[in-house]
Amino acid sequence: MPFRRFVASIALMAGVVLLAFAALVIDGDLRIWPAVIAGILVIGCHALLLRAFLDGLARLRAGVEEILVDPERAVPVVRSSSPAVNELWLAIMRLTRVWRQRISGLEIELAGSNTVLAALPDPLILVNERREVVRQNAAAKALFGDHVLRRDLAVALRQPPLLAAVDAVVAGGSGRLVEFELSSPVERHMTARIDPLPARTEDGVILLVSLHDLTSAKRAEQMRADFVANASHELRTPLSTLVGFIETLQGPAADDEEARVKFLAIMQQQASRMARLVEDLLSLSRIEMNEHQPPTTPIEVVTVLRHVAQTLELKAAARGMTIDFDVADERVRAVGDADELAQLFQNLIDNAIKYARPNTPITLGVGPSRRVKEGVAIKVRDRGEGIPRNHLPRLTERFYRVDTARSREMGGTGLGLAIVKHIINRHRGQLEIDSEIGEGTTFTVHLRSSIPGPATAPGSKADDKRAAG
Ligand SMILES: Nc1ncnc2c1ncn2[C@@H]1O[C@H](COP(=O)(O)OP(=O)(O)OP(=O)(O)O)[C@@H](O)[C@H]1O
Ligand SMILES: [Mg+2]
Repeated sequence: MPFRRFVASIALMAGVVLLAFAALVIDGDLRIWPAVIAGILVIGCHALLLRAFLDGLARLRAGVEEILVDPERAVPVVRSSSPAVNELWLAIMRLTRVWRQRISGLEIELAGSNTVLAALPDPLILVNERREVVRQNAAAKALFGDHVLRRDLAVALRQPPLLAAVDAVVAGGSGRLVEFELSSPVERHMTARIDPLPARTEDGVILLVSLHDLTSAKRAEQMRADFVANASHELRTPLSTLVGFIETLQGPAADDEEARVKFLAIMQQQASRMARLVEDLLSLSRIEMNEHQPPTTPIEVVTVLRHVAQTLELKAAARGMTIDFDVADERVRAVGDADELAQLFQNLIDNAIKYARPNTPITLGVGPSRRVKEGVAIKVRDRGEGIPRNHLPRLTERFYRVDTARSREMGGTGLGLAIVKHIINRHRGQLEIDSEIGEGTTFTVHLRSSIPGPATAPGSKADDKRAAG
C-alpha cells in the first residue's frame, strides 16, 4: 500500500480521537503534554494494527496469485497476526478445495464423454462456424484420415446437400437429417444428422455431424424384396400352369379322356413342385430360426451318410450312376444334428445325381478337415460338366441356379444349396466348392468334431458365403 494512503488511513482512524483530545485541551479539561503523549500513543497503536492488517492482506493477495498461476500446486500457507486475515485465508482455502473438486469432477466427466465419443462406431465430426473440422472420433478418422482436421468439411464430404444443410445450421437453423451416397473407398449409403450444440465450445465447435452407414440395412432390405419377388415368381409359374389346365379341363377338353390323363399328370407334377417349394421355404426358415443355437452332441457322420446314400441309390441307378464310399474310419464323429445333416447330404448327393453326367460314379469321402482344427471333412464328388468359376460365389443364394431352365425341368426349387449353407452355418462349419470344367465338382463340408471349451478360441467361422444368401 502506498505510504500516502497508509498515512491517510491512520489519519482517518485516529483523527476522531485526536480531535477529542484537542477539544479537551481547548476547554482546559486536559493539559497539553498528556494530550500530546496520548495522541502519539493512539497514532502508534493504529499504525501497528493497520500495518499488521495490511501485511496480512498483501500475503493473502500473493497466496491467491500463486494459486492462480499454478492451480495444481498445494495451497500455500498464509499466516498473519491479524485474525481477520487468517479467517479470510481459511475461507479462500475452502473455496479453492471446492473449486478443485468441481474441476476434477468435470475433468472426469469430460474424459468419460471423450471416451464414449471415441468408441462410438458411427463417425462423428465436430465443426466450427467456418465449417472447418475441429475434432473427429476414431470411426471418422478411419474413414477420412487426419488430413481433414482444420480444413473445410467439404474436404471430407464433398456432398452438396450435406454441406448446404451444415451451412443452414451454422446460420442458426435447427438440426436436420440428410441421406447421401459415398462412392469411395467403397460404395456406401449413409445418413448424416447435423445437430447444433447448445453452446459454442472453447475450441470453437458449434455443431456435430454424425454419420450412420445404412449400406447393410439397405442390402438386407433389397435381399428381402428380391426373396419375396423370387418366391412369388417361383410359386406363380406352377400356379398359372395349374389354373390354365383346370380351365382347359373345364372347357374345351372336358370330354377328352386322353387329354385329361395327360393334363392331370402335369398338374400333379406342378402341384408337388409347389408343395416342395413351400416345404423348402419352411425348412429354410426353421433352420434360420435355430441358427443361433448350434448342435452340441457328436454323432457318427458315416452312418448318416450311408443312410442317405441308400435312399438315393435307385435315383442314381436310374441314370446309370453309382454312389461309392471312400471312408478310412467308419466311426468318425462330428458335432451335429443328425436330421439336418441328413438333409444337407441329401441335397448335395441329389445335385450330383441331377447335374453330373449319366453313367459316372459319385464318391462320398470322409476324412480329417484341413479347414476346421481337428474337424471332419465330408466330400461329395461328381464327374459332371463342372460349374463355371463365376457362378461359385453365388451358388448358395436362394433361387440361384446356373442353368435355370434345366433346374426347373428337373423339379428343382433352387433352394437346396441355400438350405445346405444355413445348416452348415448352424453347425459353425464351412462349405468349400471346387469345380473343374469337364472334370466335375466337389462339395466339401467341414464340421467340428468337438465343441470348443471356454478357454479355447470360439469355433470356426461360419462359411465364407454366410452373407450371400
Ligand atoms: N453338382 C453340381 N454340378 C453342377 N451344378 C450344380 C451342382 N450342384 C448344384 N449345381 C448348380 O447349382 C444350382 C443351385 O443348386 P440348388 O441345389 O440350390 O438348387 P436346385 O438343385 O436347382 O434345386 P433343389 O435343390 O431345390 O431341388 C443348381 O441349379 C445347379 O445349376
Ligand atoms: Mg439341389
